[in-house]
Amino acid sequence: MADLKNKNIRQRMKKLPRRTLQLISTAQDTAAALGAGAYLVGGFVRDVILGVGNFDLDIVVEADGILFAQEFARRTSGSIVSHTRFGTASVALEGGLKVDIATARKETYPVPACLPQVSRGTLRDDLARRDFTINAMAASISAGDFGLLVDFFGGAEDLRRGKIRVLHPLSFRDDPTRILRAIRFEKRYGFTIEPLSLRLLKQAVAQGLIQRVGPHRLRDELVLNLKEKRVLEQLKRIRELTGFGFIHPRAAFPPAAQALAVSCQRELSWFKRKFPRHRGVDSWLVYLACLLEELNNDEVRETCRRFALRGGDEKRILSYKKAGGSLIRRLAQKSLRPSEIFGCLEPLSYEAIILLRARTKDARVRKRTEDFFEIYNGMKLYISGDDLRRLGIAPGPYYRKIFSEVLAAKLNGEVRTPQEELALIKKIREAL
Ligand code: CTP
Repeated sequence: MADLKNKNIRQRMKKLPRRTLQLISTAQDTAAALGAGAYLVGGFVRDVILGVGNFDLDIVVEADGILFAQEFARRTSGSIVSHTRFGTASVALEGGLKVDIATARKETYPVPACLPQVSRGTLRDDLARRDFTINAMAASISAGDFGLLVDFFGGAEDLRRGKIRVLHPLSFRDDPTRILRAIRFEKRYGFTIEPLSLRLLKQAVAQGLIQRVGPHRLRDELVLNLKEKRVLEQLKRIRELTGFGFIHPRAAFPPAAQALAVSCQRELSWFKRKFPRHRGVDSWLVYLACLLEELNNDEVRETCRRFALRGGDEKRILSYKKAGGSLIRRLAQKSLRPSEIFGCLEPLSYEAIILLRARTKDARVRKRTEDFFEIYNGMKLYISGDDLRRLGIAPGPYYRKIFSEVLAAKLNGEVRTPQEELALIKKIREAL
């Protein structure tokens, strides 16, 4: 990163996508109309300086942030969600862009690891409450000093030197989720947590402060680590600095689970390369399953509930746990018909199949799971419910049975044309 000329990032901001620049310009007009000082803050400023893409705008206003957000939403035809208690609002815009707007605030943490008490403050207060120096910078968006960097804590210098540094010694105690955040930024940018901050981080870990954070907040933070590009490095560093006891006392992520995570990474990129048009796989869930590898089904269920994972997410992990080794053995059998392979894999999530592939080197299992993704899973029948009705079959539970029998025949190559499908249906009907 080059040195910043005159502590101004105007030139760097000019390189932002047009749409982002338009939004910043609208925010500038809004600020002028309301006579309020407004600043871009946090990760957005950090990433503008680093020259990496970050398209969610984060704005702090030294005035009523909600009023600002209402006016901004009016000018951009965005839809606004406000949190009056915190003086914050989110404006969602066409194309999936989001602008977070907040009244400048001060925070105090009466109880460690619990949510802070919030009161109105200055821009400096607002920056001083943040996690790391690199995230505690602001850039003015007012016309008079557009792009002027506000950097009370040496964030630009730490960015230049690649350092993650807390703003004060109680930072990790106030908010232990920052432990995971420090690791996230360290590994994302290839930075290092500077020695004093690392010492403070280790102290907070030793005092068991992570366990005092509400599980939902921990889950959100961990999922962000699991969504990072260099996820294996993230996991290695979390294991080294905190361990995974905050997930479950038996979640130790031993070498076997680490090897599974490495295989999963290979399988996930294979899947993405090979099936770019298939629905995406939630890679974070695959890695979470690796972290839960040592646990039994009940422990996994209990952990998912405690972390309040969505029911669907819990099912996807459990479907892998339950199927596990026995399904691999079945899929490795010599003679299996396509319909049987389909029957094995269809109830599983894509994530579970990726995990199964990662667990085995068996060529047959690998080929069959590939065929499932490539051929069987997308196979469609010519006939529809209308055809069944035309044949005088009343809608009901038989439909499902008929469809799955015809599909099985089609997978096995026993029927090919629409006429053959119809002929088979007639046969099934007679048997019914
Ligand atoms: N923040 C903080 N402490 C936290 C969470 C957030 O101080 N526990 C502050 C940081 O200044 C951060 C900003 O709030 O930059 C926005 O938070 P978030 O969107 O979570 O982080 P980003 O820095 O934008 O990170 P990312 O690029 O991963 O979205």
